[in-house]
Amino acid sequence: MTDAPLIEAIGVSRFFADGNVTALQDVSLQIHKGEYAALVGKSGSGKSTLLNLLGGLDHPTSGQIRFNGRDLTEYGDPAHFRSTQLGFVFQSFHLVSVLTAEQNVQLPMFESKLTASQRQTRARELLELVGMSHRIHHRPQKLSVGERQRVAIARALANQPSLLLADEPTGNLDSATAHAIFELFDSLHASGMTLLLVTHDPMLANRAQRTFTLADGKLVSS
Ligand SMILES: Nc1ncnc2c1ncn2[C@@H]1O[C@H](COP(=O)(O)OP(=O)(O)O)[C@@H](O)[C@H]1O
Ligand SMILES: [Mg+2]
Repeated sequence: MTDAPLIEAIGVSRFFADGNVTALQDVSLQIHKGEYAALVGKSGSGKSTLLNLLGGLDHPTSGQIRFNGRDLTEYGDPAHFRSTQLGFVFQSFHLVSVLTAEQNVQLPMFESKLTASQRQTRARELLELVGMSHRIHHRPQKLSVGERQRVAIARALANQPSLLLADEPTGNLDSATAHAIFELFDSLHASGMTLLLVTHDPMLANRAQRTFTLADGKLVSS
């Protein structure tokens, strides 16, 4: 049982009736605890579709997603599953504009049993981890794009997820800022986190231990 992958896609296909698109076709992959994996492929190859399925944001047309050996559908409420088991980082951050950095990081913690002061302590620790201690009371508009992504990463870590999924997390960042985010991912990996990053950036993909490549909705190498 200890050898069960942390997350696994088994023969997963996703058909969108809207547009009559087969975005993914019979994709199988396994990621084990502690691995650092990159998912690459041309625009439109199905990367976001696959990441959304792995993260429980969408459901396969056929096939299965398993997390810790159990089908995702067995975890009950998908929103609760996501916020307690995984962290999801989006290219465009998806921070809540009326909330401060600290409040954004606390948001997922309302799904946990932490008290208000524990939430505050943990949010501040996470903001320190991503190098944002000096900006805890700033709202997203007052932050640079790189700083916003740091806050989004801190928020993704709010509930100590075992898996971090990120969809083109450095896609909107200049190369120096992206580099700092790469180093943050490296340090998360070194501390035991399992990561799967979708990226166009060969520099980021090269830092991962494994690369999965999608072409036209099919896994062509892994
Ligand atoms: N919600 C949707 N409805 C219809 N088609 C979609 C939807 N999401 C993605 N697609 C299509 O599926 C294919 C794969 O998209 P996507 O996974 O976003 O690719 P990538 O992230 O690799 O650029 C594309 O042809 C895209 O237009
Ligand atoms: Mg995409």
